[in-house]
Amino acid sequence: MRLLIATTNPDKLREIRGLLQHLPVEVLSLRDFAAVEEPDESGTTFEENARLKAFYYDAAVAHPTALVQCGPLLTVAEDSGLVVDALDGEPGVRSARYLRPDASYPERFAEIQRRLATRPSAPRTARFVCAVAVVQAGMLVYEATGVVEGEIAPAARGTHGFGYDPVFYYPPYEQTLGETTEEEKQRVAHRGRAFRKLAEWLEKCRTENKGLSSVL
Ligand code: IMP
Repeated sequence: MRLLIATTNPDKLREIRGLLQHLPVEVLSLRDFAAVEEPDESGTTFEENARLKAFYYDAAVAHPTALVQCGPLLTVAEDSGLVVDALDGEPGVRSARYLRPDASYPERFAEIQRRLATRPSAPRTARFVCAVAVVQAGMLVYEATGVVEGEIAPAARGTHGFGYDPVFYYPPYEQTLGETTEEEKQRVAHRGRAFRKLAEWLEKCRTENKGLSSVL
C-alpha cells in the first residue's frame, strides 16, 4: 500500500511519518513527485480544506502518476490550526497566515496576547484541530478529525514542536506543547489523534481483507 502525504510543511511531515511508522505502508511525500503549485486553501473549515487539498493533489500528482507507474496510491491531506475561543475561533483555518503570511511566531504570539489582554475576563481556552481526508482516484474514501483541548499560556514556553506549540498549555501535563517531547505531544495532540484513527482504518481494511481493493 502506498500513501502520498500531501503536505509541504516539513514539521507536519515529520510528525505524520512518525505516526504511521508502524504500518506496512510506503509513505511518499510531495518531494517524491514533480513540483506542482499549492492549491488555494479557500475552505472555511479544517475539514473543507483537508478535502480540497486531498482532491487537488490526487488529481494533480497521485492519480496521473499511479496510472503510468506502479499501481494505485492513496492521497492523504490534512488541515490543522489553533482555535482560540476568546478570539472567536481565530487564528483557525488562517493559522499559517495569521497576522501576515510572513509574520514570525513570536509576532503571532504577541498579537494573540495583545488581543486576549483586551478581554481579561474571557476564558483562555483553546484547541488544536486536525482534519484528515483521503482521496483515491477522485473519490473521498476516508476522513477523520482530531482535537486537543488546552489554554493559551500567559507567555511562550519551550522550544520543542513548531508553530503555536510554545503558547499552547496542556493542563494534564502542566506544560506547553513546546515543553513536551515529540512523543508526549503525539500521544495527546490533534494530529496524533486524527492519524491514529486513519491508521486504525487502514489496518481494518487490510485485516478484514475488504482490501484496500474496495478502496484501491
Ligand atoms: P495548514 O498548513 O494550512 O494546515 O496550517 C497549519 C498551521 O496551523 C501551521 O502552520 C501552524 O501555524 C498551526 N499548527 C497546526 N498544527 C500545529 C501543531 O501541532 N503545533 C503548532 N502549530 C500548529
